[in-house]
Amino acid sequence: MVSRGQLAWIAWAAVGVMISVTLAGCGGGGAASTNEILIGHYGSMTGSEATFGVSTDNGIKLAVKERNAAGGVKGKQIKLKTYDDQGKAQEAVTVVTRLIQQDKAAAILGEVASSRSLAGGPVCQRLGVPMISPSSTNPDVTAIGDMVSRVCFIDPFQGYVGAKFAFENLKLKKGAVLFNRAQAYSSGLKDNFNEAFKKLGGEVVEEQAYGDGDNDFSAQLTAIREKDPEFIYIPGYYTEVVNIAQQARARDIKVPLIGGDGWDSDKLANAKDALQGCYFSNHYSHQDTRPEVQEFVKKYQAEYGAVPDGLAALGYDSARLLFDAMDRAASLSGKDLAKAINETKDFAGVTGKISMDENRNARKDAVILEVKDGVPSFVTSIAPE
Ligand code: PHE
Repeated sequence: MVSRGQLAWIAWAAVGVMISVTLAGCGGGGAASTNEILIGHYGSMTGSEATFGVSTDNGIKLAVKERNAAGGVKGKQIKLKTYDDQGKAQEAVTVVTRLIQQDKAAAILGEVASSRSLAGGPVCQRLGVPMISPSSTNPDVTAIGDMVSRVCFIDPFQGYVGAKFAFENLKLKKGAVLFNRAQAYSSGLKDNFNEAFKKLGGEVVEEQAYGDGDNDFSAQLTAIREKDPEFIYIPGYYTEVVNIAQQARARDIKVPLIGGDGWDSDKLANAKDALQGCYFSNHYSHQDTRPEVQEFVKKYQAEYGAVPDGLAALGYDSARLLFDAMDRAASLSGKDLAKAINETKDFAGVTGKISMDENRNARKDAVILEVKDGVPSFVTSIAPE
């Protein structure tokens, strides 16, 4: 039994807890107890691009864990808050606003898909909080303003990489293109590829488009087959690519399919026969023998029991580059932090050496991967022109 004295004590203790909770709530809002720095991540943790968000989050979490074990940043522990935007641009706006206004995040990491970075980025710019996209490659993303940067290359380069590989390495002269007209990434990369391929002397014999959520590509594939291309360039995301590859083979289209980083997912294994001998450009290969890469692969595997894809590597790099900038920043105000991020030079990332150019983009090599039994394997790397 609880005595009357004990009851009174419990009541007072409860009031004490309530008071301290209220004070913490007023003081810093959300996570900002004074010995923590909150950073936010927004990504597609669910939906048709779910592996993008999950892999990126895993990479970020690993970087946070390592940094906290080493004493944190400016003597404080890093706290990560991740919100699922379900792969929807409108939801990206909502969760980025919440991370900044309610949770008081000092910086934002995300998104993977360019269309969602183009939705979340303006919120960061308007509210003055730095955002680093790990992997959005459409040029317009960092054109939002000085609060928005990225640790990856951009699509004018990636389009050139795909075109050069098809034309020079595979000696293919006649290509068709099938792209997602609803995604900034896909329609932009399509234009960049077309321009580069024509410049090299190649011919684009057919161009077909689809929309978000489409899963029947028969009309487009039939039109493409009639033009008899030597390959099809597909600057889409993995769920679409898996369906397109299977439907193409069912229509007796045997030519190689070539794509960009949007293919990067372990879900490619769902179409491993249809994608055998197909290629895509990407930011990194887990088979790269550089010590930075091999050490990361080992640590990631120990933590998650899986081989890290490019998104995991870019998520890891984006978080580590942010911590490096926090170390150098005069303060963690949005202005000081953005300045330190934008001044980054020769940061040793898993995905290569990262320096921010005057447009807050990174200039790095790309790799070409071949799908072999559902697993992307290193073929070659291509440097910027
Ligand atoms: N670059 C893609 C975009 O801008 C996203 C992506 C990057 C997807 C890397 C997979 C791997 O939308």
